Amino acid sequence: MVFTLFLLLFLLLKTNCSTFQDCESECIFEPVKLISTNIGSFPKCAKVCSFLKIDHSSNLTHEQLTEAFKNLETLVGGLEIVNATFTDVKFLNSLTRIEANTSPVRISNNEKMIELGMVNLTTVITYNFAVSGNKEMTVLNLPKLQIVDCQLSPCKPVISMWNNNQNFCMTTEEMKVFLLNNRIEQFYVNSKVCEPAGDNMKTCKMPEVGCEELVGNLEIRQDFDTKTVNSLKIIYGSLLVQNSTLDDLSCLGNLTHVAQFDGLKPVVEIQEGLKSIKMANLERIVTSVWNGAHIQNENKRKLGNDTEIFENFALFEKTPQNAPRSFDGLSC
Ligand SMILES: *[C@@H]1O[C@H](CO)[C@@H](O)[C@H](O)[C@H]1NC(C)=O
Ligand SMILES: *[C@@H]1O[C@H](CO)[C@@H](O)[C@H](O)[C@H]1NC(C)=O
Ligand SMILES: *[C@@H]1O[C@H](CO)[C@@H](O)[C@H](O)[C@H]1NC(C)=O
Ligand SMILES: *[C@@H]1O[C@H](CO)[C@@H](O)[C@H](O)[C@H]1NC(C)=O
Ligand SMILES: *[C@@H]1O[C@H](CO)[C@@H](O)[C@H](O)[C@H]1NC(C)=O
Ligand SMILES: *[C@@H]1O[C@H](CO)[C@@H](O)[C@H](O)[C@H]1NC(C)=O
Repeated sequence: MVFTLFLLLFLLLKTNCSTFQDCESECIFEPVKLISTNIGSFPKCAKVCSFLKIDHSSNLTHEQLTEAFKNLETLVGGLEIVNATFTDVKFLNSLTRIEANTSPVRISNNEKMIELGMVNLTTVITYNFAVSGNKEMTVLNLPKLQIVDCQLSPCKPVISMWNNNQNFCMTTEEMKVFLLNNRIEQFYVNSKVCEPAGDNMKTCKMPEVGCEELVGNLEIRQDFDTKTVNSLKIIYGSLLVQNSTLDDLSCLGNLTHVAQFDGLKPVVEIQEGLKSIKMANLERIVTSVWNGAHIQNENKRKLGNDTEIFENFALFEKTPQNAPRSFDGLSC
């Protein structure tokens, strides 16, 4: 029995060692939870190996944490901030990289948290990234985030941005980190897309010449000026083509993604009678199903659960012209 325990302990430590082989021994923080009695020994290294966990019982102030983490740039291991009372995570604002290969990165159920505010964070390597259940949170504020991905295979990161404040929104830049990563197939999000900032010509709320990302629905009806959508790459909203006199949708040749998160309407609806509805570069359609957002390849058949209601229209999925094509877009 005792021997078994020792063996278990040994194996546990050994696993820790191999997870933390990247770190100098003085840069490894072993305790499972950060609390007031061990925060003094948090390593002052730029790269720290730790399964860092902070919760309501940690008894730490924002100031103590800011001081403890002031040199921290890379965290190897994992990060969980759950049920804590902080209003943000700005004490981790020098952090640029989290490498949590086998652990989740979770910031959940913090009842006073209004934003993350990890303004230098660029990269999160994990199989499960969750920012959820933070009832006051209205924005992420991760302005430099570029990569959320995993490294171990099979790699299918699961993302949850779920049950935060009802006004919670993600910027188009934050949204793209997830949308443009084709390995992410499970993206549980009930977030709006934040209103585009006025000074960005490439993001618009109404179709405009030169606009690349539309925050809002695109409705193509009679007498539609197709020049306004020629540069369009992403629609954060649904695409409706109704009563138009177009022969085809070649005007949307730059469109790669249609993403709509309110889950009430089909994400794409196109009238019958067009000669072709092919959009040469379309890669992904994202829509909410059963309160989650479901990402599917354009060629799969389920675009929503309301087919019957919209029987006046040929739904995108039913149209034969939409034949499978190769991924590089060369064989359209
Ligand atoms: C909380 O931390 C302070 C020092 O920061 C200490 O004086 C106090 O005893 C701690 N309270 C608990 C419940 O651990
Ligand atoms: C969350 O924190 C509160 C105190 O702030 C505590 O009473 C409760 O047990 C905690 N819940 C969990 C799941 O840890
Ligand atoms: C965050 O990055 C900026 C440069 O973009 C730098 O000036 C700032 O010092 C960094 N913040 C911290 C806390 O390291
Ligand atoms: C796609 O965008 C490029 C550059 O903005 C433009 O030259 C091209 O004509 C567009 N394609 C279509 C089909 O409009
Ligand atoms: C379609 O266009 C006709 C005119 O050509 C108009 O009378 C009708 O109301 C339009 N229908 C819709 C749904 O916009
Ligand atoms: C549509 O949604 C209902 C639940 O609202 C579900 O039972 C049904 O399986 C769904 N159908 C399809 C085709 O997804």
